[in-house]
Amino acid sequence: GPQKELIRESWQTVSQDQLHHGTVLFSRLFELEPELVFLFQYNSSHFSEVQDCLRSAEFTEHIRKVMTVIDAAVSSLDSLSSLDEYLTSLGRKHRAVGVKLESFNTVGESLLFALESGLGDAFTSDTREAWSLLYASVVQSMSRGWHR
Ligand code: HEM
Repeated sequence: GPQKELIRESWQTVSQDQLHHGTVLFSRLFELEPELVFLFQYNSSHFSEVQDCLRSAEFTEHIRKVMTVIDAAVSSLDSLSSLDEYLTSLGRKHRAVGVKLESFNTVGESLLFALESGLGDAFTSDTREAWSLLYASVVQSMSRGWHR
């Protein structure tokens, strides 16, 4: 339907520079919930500055991982349930590293922020609505990782 087209078109634009838009997403996320930066511990040392985190090779990899999951969701718009098992286990991993399910609301806000920054006027209210629904559905599957 038209909702899916809005998502596919806008993702085609944004995914041309995934690292940039992913960095906008996480910069926004750390503005809204600064304590989340402490969950990223590589080699059991944690970042004391957001900028150190954003610039690290491991965190840059995490950004790529996030964008790959979103890319998979966009590619599977007609069969999102095929990602269900994977997203449940992804949720479980995030619970294990100390992420609270509520923080994924802030991630959603930050995703919309990054899309809007990347798309400008092309980010219409219909596009926002379409992405909100897709994101809600991804989080719905991930949330099972906190419940069972
Ligand atoms: C892995 C934190 C959001 C996808 C991880 C790891 C941490 C982490 C600490 C393990 C280290 C690593 O692989 O870099 C967080 C935090 C988030 C967040 C604090 C926001 C509150 C997301 C989102 C997605 C995502 C929104 C995608 C929708 C992944 C993937 C992995 C991962 C694919 C690798 C899992 C594996 O090893 O199988 N995350 N993450 N993360 N994260 Fe996140």
